[in-house]
Formats: sequence, C-alpha cells, structure tokens
Amino acid sequence: GAGLAIAETPPLEAKDTYRVGFPQMESNNPWRIAQTKSFHDTAETCGWDLIATDAAGSAAKQVADVDSMIAQGIDVLFLPPREEKPLIPAVMKAKAAGIPTFLVDRSVDPSVAQAGDHYVSFLGSDFIEQGQRAADWLIANFSGEKGVIVELEGTTGSSPANDRKKGFDDQIATDDRFEIVASQTGDFARDLGRQVMETLLQAHPDVNVVYAHNDEMAIGAIQALELAGRKPGEDVIIVSIDGTRDALQAIIDGKMGVTVESSPFFGPLACDVMKRYAAGEEIPGWIKVEDRIFTKDNAADHIDEAY
Ligand code: AHR
Repeated sequence: GAGLAIAETPPLEAKDTYRVGFPQMESNNPWRIAQTKSFHDTAETCGWDLIATDAAGSAAKQVADVDSMIAQGIDVLFLPPREEKPLIPAVMKAKAAGIPTFLVDRSVDPSVAQAGDHYVSFLGSDFIEQGQRAADWLIANFSGEKGVIVELEGTTGSSPANDRKKGFDDQIATDDRFEIVASQTGDFARDLGRQVMETLLQAHPDVNVVYAHNDEMAIGAIQALELAGRKPGEDVIIVSIDGTRDALQAIIDGKMGVTVESSPFFGPLACDVMKRYAAGEEIPGWIKVEDRIFTKDNAADHIDEAY
C-alpha cells in the first residue's frame, strides 16, 4: 500500500537444503567453540550448506562477515551479536536483503530492533534470571557476616553482561549483608579475568566473594586468588555462569560454589525453529532456553557431557 510500513520478517521457502550463515563472534573460549561445533554438527543432519566465520572479537568484523554472507546468497542467518548496538546494522541489512534472521544466544538493543519485524526470533537464555539465580544461591549459602563482592563483568555492551549484572545486582541488594565493592569487565576471557582479579585484589584485600559473568573469568579469578595465597572455595566463594568442564571440575575440587547453566548447544534448536518458520508456523519472538544449575550436589553427574 501507499507508504504503509508493515512489520514483518522475510519469508523462508521450504526446501531440502539451505545456505545458512553463522557469523561467530570469537573463538577464544570453550563456550564459543562448543557453540560453533554445534552448528557444524547440525549442518549434516539439517541439510545446511553452512558458511561459518570467526570475527575474532571484533563487532566491526562480525558486521562485515554478515555483509559477505549476504553477498554469498545465504537463505537464513543465525546471528550471535557480540554487542547489543554495533550489530544492529547487520540485522537491518539482512532484512533489507530479504534474509530471515534468528538471533542466537545474545540479543540486540530492543529499542531499535524488534522480533517479528527486524528479526524473526531470539533463541536464548534469560540472562537476568541467570544473574538472579547466582545471587539466590549466594544468599542461601553464604554463612559469613559480611559479604565483600568483586564482580567480573562480561563484554561491555553485550546483552549477557548487561543482564547478568542487572539480575545479580538487584537481587543481592535485597540482602544487606552484601556489598559489591568493585565491578569491572574481564571481556568474558580467562586471562583478562585473571589480570583484573589480580588488580582488584590489591585494592580490596578483604574480598570474600567473586561473581563472574562466565566460567572462563571465574577460572581466571581462581588462578589470581591462588597466586595471592587465598583459598578459593574456603575463604572466597566463587559464583559463576555457563557450566563448562573446567568449572564443573572446580566445583568438584571445592574451589567453586555454583555455576548457573547457559547452554552453547544451539544447533538442534536452530534447525527445528528454522523448519517451523519455513512451514509457515508462527514463531514467538523469544524462544527461551531453560537452564539447570550445577553445584557440588550434581557437578560430577554432568562433567562427562560438559565441554
Ligand atoms: O552469550 C553467552 C556468553 O558468551 C557465555 O556465557 C560466555 O561464556 C560466552 O562468551
């Protein structure tokens, strides 16, 4: 009609094989490697001709990788946006090119891009709830008088860093035993987590709780604490998110208290949702992944399936 903008996503034809784009953001941690592997494994069973790239930690490169996938004629895009704002242009360009986009694991700024309009759906965990559950575990399991918390944040401007901070901070504010004395980014990386923890330990030697937005930074923090002669699991409680093999081992070893699951195995879900979309089914704007929680009670039962 005349200038009437209708919010809708590009259609997807039902066919046997699809050219699928998966522009990964980086490959510097086991979570990312497991996620990429899940897409490669699914390609074989779901009839995907998969184009996968690695932006090596650069949002600009991730946008350029999407451009090149559009030029290569992908039918569908599964995008894990590294940060909430810089990846918006990629979402917009895919829509303009008639390519349906599914956001996987991370989201984009909802004030600019919306499900059912700019992209079909967000497949992923509730990161606010993950942060809340980490705080709930701490509130229930902390036996000291005063909890002095250092928070290691994920990648600045990413949806998991924003939401895991909000969920945890709001919940922990309800218990006046706790104080967050420092909150700094470790970019979801083990080595940066270790370095940031080393620095924060000098400024706050009385820290007795570390909340890390992912397991890699938690492992880095454990290394820094041990180097400083502290005893993670005894005089410092570590709470984290993901459920990697190293984290489950740290729980078994008594060094880490809890990790709230955030699953990287998106391939099969992506295949299923894509086929439903191609069949003309109505897809909800958020397909929420349900997460488990790992503690000393069940870590040993799950370490064999961990990544
Ligand atoms: O988006 C999910 C997060 O990204 C994971 O928790 C983290 O390990 C990864 O880098």
